Amino acid sequence: MAFTPVHAPGSVINHRLSNSPLAPLPARQRPLSQRLLHRQPTPRLEIHTDRIRDNAAAILELCAQHGVEVACVTKVVCAHPAVVRALLEAGATMLADSRLENLWALRAMGVDAPLLLLRLPTLSRVIDVVRVADMSLVSSLTTMKALAEAARSEGRCHRGILMVDVGDLREGVWPDRVVEIVCAARTLSGFELVGLGCNLACFGGVIPTPENTAQLAALREMCRQATDLELPLLSGGNTTSLPLLASGCLPPEINHLRIGEGIMLGRNPSDRSPWPGARQDTFVAVAEVIEVECKPSLPVGARGQDAFGGREAFVDRGVRLRAICNLGRQDAVLTDLAPVESGVSILGGSSDHFILDVEEMHPRPKVGDELRFYPGYAALLALVTSPYVYNSVVG
Ligand SMILES: Cc1ncc(COP(=O)(O)O)c(C=O)c1O
Repeated sequence: MAFTPVHAPGSVINHRLSNSPLAPLPARQRPLSQRLLHRQPTPRLEIHTDRIRDNAAAILELCAQHGVEVACVTKVVCAHPAVVRALLEAGATMLADSRLENLWALRAMGVDAPLLLLRLPTLSRVIDVVRVADMSLVSSLTTMKALAEAARSEGRCHRGILMVDVGDLREGVWPDRVVEIVCAARTLSGFELVGLGCNLACFGGVIPTPENTAQLAALREMCRQATDLELPLLSGGNTTSLPLLASGCLPPEINHLRIGEGIMLGRNPSDRSPWPGARQDTFVAVAEVIEVECKPSLPVGARGQDAFGGREAFVDRGVRLRAICNLGRQDAVLTDLAPVESGVSILGGSSDHFILDVEEMHPRPKVGDELRFYPGYAALLALVTSPYVYNSVVG
């Protein structure tokens, strides 16, 4: 079985492998050529769907107890089918993604749960938006008008959640503009505003509080007084709103959250602390050692810029054992990877090379060995998106 990356035509989505069909690693005594033939390819990303399912089930249960519906966010895994299956098995009733390509992939998989587009729609693709998404996050009246026209041309009605910027300075209208925009949007035919939403802890790193999330409820009240719109849905943020929910401090009017990292990596993005009861070992990046050599820790010779325009500071620790693995900045954010094996420390890397200090590793690695790393959010996003990284579904 050849492991040729397969690109869906006209799409950046690249789900190469589900479960590896390869035989288990052969016994040591088999001829080298056969042993090499039967190895799983590297670099690869192992996806532990059972752990993701458990994380999703626990968070969905917590939210349900507080009357909060969850849109499970699939963007960090590019809507990988095995992960999507795990989310649905855990009871997901709504999926959300920032990319239309991923929403199309969800539909192509046969997902019939409502789909929410997370990134504000582009005018150039409103027709795709109304065809594939049931609902979008919106902030521009121009876009709402275009969505309305596109939906009418398709004989549909598109639903929108008006985003309010409550301080994080990413998407959303400033609170003092909400009533005016809701009043203007209510007359559109083919487009229905179904609620208000906010996003926090993304650009400004602003932590959700009872006060900033409660603005949605207060603004809805003002909109209700100014219009006949009910605006039943209040979408109060992402994973970083879970601590408020769990402590009973999320305003009771908030009835919707959009959760990605908490499910996928079991962490709170505000400080990357583990979410209680959730697993963090849901994904493992596996890279292969392609060189092991003893070298001095300081470069030798006059120095200019490195391959990426930087000037790395080196510390003299004498001669050290170093390994190079076949993973690079084209595949991952290397500094966002945590070695699974002890005795490995990350020195840095270039487009194709991951450079590690393995002086303290026992036994010492050799060429052909696999080293494993837990990715953080940034590394995971790149690993899943890189067409050079194979996916292997385990669990
Ligand atoms: C608008 C919006 N909501 C929710 C999320 C999910 O965020 P998190 O992964 O922190 O739960 C994202 C990011 O993926 C987003 O862009």
